[in-house]
Amino acid sequence: MKLTVRYGMLVKERAETIVLGLFDAPRITPVLKRFDKALGGEISRLIKSGDFRPRLNKTFLLPTYGLLPTKRLLLIGLGKENEFTLDKVRQVSGTALKTVQGFGIKGVTSQLYPLKDSVEQVSRAMAEGAVLGLYRFDRFKHLEPDEAKEVKSLTIMVEDKARLGGAKVGARRGQLIAEAACQARDLVNLPGSEATPSMIANEAKKLGRRSGIKVRVLSADTMKRLGMNGVLGVGRGSAQPPKFVILEYGKRRPGQDTVVLVGKGVTFDSGGISIKPSQDMDKMKYDMAGAGTVLSAFRVFARLRPKAHLVGLLPCVENMPSGKAMKPGDIISCMGGKTVEVANTDAEGRLILADALAYTKRYKPTAVVDIATLTGACVVALGRMAMGMMGNNEELRKRVREAGDAAHERVWELPLWDEYGEAIKSTIADVKNIGDGSAGTITGAKFLEKFVDKTPWVHLDIAGVAWNDKDAPYIPKGASGTGVRLLVELIMNWKKFPATAKRGKK
Ligand code: BES
Ligand code: MN
Ligand code: ZN
Repeated sequence: MKLTVRYGMLVKERAETIVLGLFDAPRITPVLKRFDKALGGEISRLIKSGDFRPRLNKTFLLPTYGLLPTKRLLLIGLGKENEFTLDKVRQVSGTALKTVQGFGIKGVTSQLYPLKDSVEQVSRAMAEGAVLGLYRFDRFKHLEPDEAKEVKSLTIMVEDKARLGGAKVGARRGQLIAEAACQARDLVNLPGSEATPSMIANEAKKLGRRSGIKVRVLSADTMKRLGMNGVLGVGRGSAQPPKFVILEYGKRRPGQDTVVLVGKGVTFDSGGISIKPSQDMDKMKYDMAGAGTVLSAFRVFARLRPKAHLVGLLPCVENMPSGKAMKPGDIISCMGGKTVEVANTDAEGRLILADALAYTKRYKPTAVVDIATLTGACVVALGRMAMGMMGNNEELRKRVREAGDAAHERVWELPLWDEYGEAIKSTIADVKNIGDGSAGTITGAKFLEKFVDKTPWVHLDIAGVAWNDKDAPYIPKGASGTGVRLLVELIMNWKKFPATAKRGKK
């Protein structure tokens, strides 16, 4: 989609369709007044009669019968004015574009929605909502001609010249970030037999060739030498070779922080020998959403060039049962030497993350954030509204929480108290990979904690948010891409980490 930001009077635009937002109960803004007048008061009548009630995301398509240069108006409800936020901007933008696309309209012009936040933020949210909302995964589907129609262009009109610069910057950023999130969705939506560990490694290498990002892929031999038996063990049952992908942006400079982002890349999770029930097993292609999220975040860093040294680690494996597979009861040693009793081969994410977290030590990072579809328990606890957040450092948790709020990819904190660690004690190894069935999300994080030292660390469980079972205004059913915008927000606003905040209170 071509996105343009232009200066001019909206009412004078010769557009295919103009999108106009209305509050419920409507405040007659100067823009609205001009349209209403040109249409002989038709908009006011629609509202008065109750034919159009401008509730959030409700739409009404109105032909202009030659009374205006534009052919049509799409009225869209913005909801209550005092409840209007940047995320609602994303929502109405996504809804408006989808609606227009449904009518087969190719070009849309939109007002800059009336919100008191900075113009850059508003236009960014509009671009994000539009790009995220129009996304569909249709590369395997033969579309009917009317389904195949696409909105080709969106023009955002700015009626105040002083706001033009900010609006342009915001729209460009929003489009860039949302397109990266859509690439993450594509990777996650791809069937497990397409998006294999090798395929993800190749995608990363492609990014490396196009950008200044250094990409390295560790082979199974190197992993053996490093003692990464978590990744190797989980990958053992599969015909697909495991890959450990390392992305590096910038380099370590004195006085500059190093942040490591780790993403779980289980390209298909059958459960292994502790095999999952067949009901919903098809969805386990999304178990690499963490890796997809981190990879896409690096796509954005390559373009926006933050001032930090960033490392991305993507342990990628397929978890399959076979004669070679790891067995329940096996004991493996992860990188660093800690031994793990694998009581359940379906708790595989933590095994590959253990190696990746241990691997972070060579970077002496300022902070580590891992993102993973780790536990079904997190879906039960938080649904698709929030990711679970656990960590060892309040300053880092605060930064992640704020980034999540800003992106509206919200996190909810769960405790990481020592007592929760009891459940993963093993009598025959250093640690066990499952707990006692209670507080599954927390015991998963307690397991991971054993592989981080004093480094500030946050774990994000995205098992719930990474996949949508039904359409939402700017997240269609399927892979959501959730996490990309949070990570971008976190890193683009990164300020030097205070030394005193090293390992605060739990
Ligand atoms: N990938 C799953 C977690 C998951 C479940 C993600 C549902 C998304 C939706 C993970 O590898 C897993 O199987 N976890 C087990 C852990 C248990 C065996 C301790 C779970 O949550 O059941
Ligand atoms: Mn599993
Ligand atoms: Zn898994």
